[in-house]
Amino acid sequence: MDVHVLSLFPEMLHGFLRASIVGRALEEERVRVHDVQIRSYSTNKHRTVDDTPYGGGSGMVMAAPPLVAAIESLPGTEGMRPHVILLTPSGRLFTQRDAERLATLPAIALVCGRYEGMDARVTAYVDEELSIGDYVLTGGELGAAVILDAVVRLLPGVLGNQHSSIDESHGRSGTLEYPQYTRPAVFRDVAVPLVLQKGDHKKIALWRRWHALRRTRTRRPDLFAAIALTEREQKWLDGEEPQ
Ligand code: ADE
Repeated sequence: MDVHVLSLFPEMLHGFLRASIVGRALEEERVRVHDVQIRSYSTNKHRTVDDTPYGGGSGMVMAAPPLVAAIESLPGTEGMRPHVILLTPSGRLFTQRDAERLATLPAIALVCGRYEGMDARVTAYVDEELSIGDYVLTGGELGAAVILDAVVRLLPGVLGNQHSSIDESHGRSGTLEYPQYTRPAVFRDVAVPLVLQKGDHKKIALWRRWHALRRTRTRRPDLFAAIALTEREQKWLDGEEPQ
């Protein structure tokens, strides 16, 4: 997969890209990341990329011409132009479903805004606008890093076989992940639940489902509301932890 990062500070991502699983995916060329410096597409004397807003107000606005020129300069992959994503706090909220969808594409471009905003005419040149959460960052670079990380770990061969997108939080189950344990069996007087130590797979599956559901109900009522439980399951969930 080719990923183009359009930014005034593309080097912000370099440290992150070198490390850990993403770093290995880059070395193995499962993903290729290309920096695109937006400033080099500015045609004015001082290579400026921002200007004051029409209608007044505080702050500066990123101008359309250099950004659109940078987007239009992107090379194709397998004869297809990259899928262009604009990072902005006013975009739709990025989810695991988006990561799964983007991981199937041959090439994406992550357009990182800076300043207080961007000329609205840029949106005609992007395929979608995504936000990584309900808070405002100083620029889209960290959002691009988040999307890149979530997508790269889904690419074939990156995580190996141990990866299960069903069990993990925000996977297909619709619940958060159940609690996990590893050795030692007792840590500072807290023991690993006996049912996990014993190894009865049916009982373990029930224990995990119960904890995943309880956790989701308390921590993420919005996700819990979307899970269809039968009356029997609802009663089971209200009862004691299965042993
Ligand atoms: N740029 C600034 N804030 C952002 C956010 N929450 N998500 C994506 N891009 C952003």
